Amino acid sequence: MNILLTGGAGYIGSHTIVELDKAGHSVVVVDNLVNSSEESLNRVAKIIGKQVPFVKADVRDAVSMNAIFDKYKIDAVINFAGLKAVGESVAKPLEYYENNMNACFVLLNVMRKHNCKNFIFSSSATVYGDPAIIPITEECPKGECTNPYGKTKSMLEEVLIDLQKADPEWNIVLLRYFNPIGAHESGLIGENPNGIPNNLMPYITQTAVGLRKELGVFGNDYDTPDGTGVRDYIHVCDLAAGHVCALQAIDRKCGLAIYNLGTGHGYSVLDVVRAFEKANGVKVPYSIKPRRAGDIATCYCNPAKAKAELGWEAKYGIEEMCRDAWNFQKNNPEGY
Ligand code: NAD
Ligand code: WQD
Repeated sequence: MNILLTGGAGYIGSHTIVELDKAGHSVVVVDNLVNSSEESLNRVAKIIGKQVPFVKADVRDAVSMNAIFDKYKIDAVINFAGLKAVGESVAKPLEYYENNMNACFVLLNVMRKHNCKNFIFSSSATVYGDPAIIPITEECPKGECTNPYGKTKSMLEEVLIDLQKADPEWNIVLLRYFNPIGAHESGLIGENPNGIPNNLMPYITQTAVGLRKELGVFGNDYDTPDGTGVRDYIHVCDLAAGHVCALQAIDRKCGLAIYNLGTGHGYSVLDVVRAFEKANGVKVPYSIKPRRAGDIATCYCNPAKAKAELGWEAKYGIEEMCRDAWNFQKNNPEGY
């Protein structure tokens, strides 16, 4: 298939190009580079042996999006484009609602106009809020999101469900990612956050490489085995492969489908610190800090539905996630 990746220069998008190429698909990328660098696409070219067509444009720009659909025969779209920093979304709600919602609206309109009705959406475990069921199945009711970022994901899910109901020609897959970490084994592409990282693994790798003094562990009084927050970390290459499998659902005209993409294992913050130290033989100094607003104690999934219906399951464990995250950081101490 010929797949358009919006936000394809970013962390998950760049890894997904590699997996799509491996599976024989063609890729076109559109990205405004607001949170990425074109260098990631040059690195992808080194891995797959060719440069993928890239259009630098904002997905909210309907003229540019129409031009892409006029030029390339697009069979399906994977919509990675979006702003994703939880804390920033609390400070800049309008920017987050405007970017994430409008980009999706413009894209869906342009797709409809070109009769391309196959869509994969990057959703998030955040839509479960403080989950009612652990491990989380797709039947778990959605919960209250505490920040505008999470609300954009939850609201766009509703928009997409309504769209597919109104026009059953659409095939829409909502992929609820758990916590993607790690990097491609080559060390050429990986997570490259701007400024101070918000997420655990980039903070750990930047501490290990000496860019940060110590990791702050946000709370050790949660109702978890060691008191620190428990999450379902998933290797970004496994997550990327999940998108290739989701295309099979589209191929067999799934209508609307929802899948959790996680490993089904929960690791605490201190588990990850220890696993990182063991896998890489480096120390990660840390100290306990107060809880971070909006955090929950435990979040991990039951990934059985994706296995049963897509034949997808995570291959990599926490050791490989830690090894590959460190490999990318070591090879790129200043990022791309
Ligand atoms: P990322 O920031 O690395 O990638 C997103 C890309 O979208 C960036 O390259 C950015 O430049 C681009 N972008 C943003 N707004 C755009 C616009 N209006 N027009 C064109 N390009 C635009 O983030 P990521 O980690 O690769 O995440 C990809 C998607 O997955 C996002 O939608 C994110 O919300 C979602 N997601 C991420 C995680 C995670 O932990 N990384 C978890 C769940 C869901
Ligand atoms: C993981 C654990 C922290 C940083 C977020 C978004 C979610 C999704 C993935 C996009 C928690 C602890 C973290 C640090 C710490 N993104 N931590 N010190 O919060 O599970 O999910 O990213 O959709 O929507 O909310 O991920 O990596 O920020 O935190 O102790 O410096 O690590 O408290 O327990 P989170 P995270």
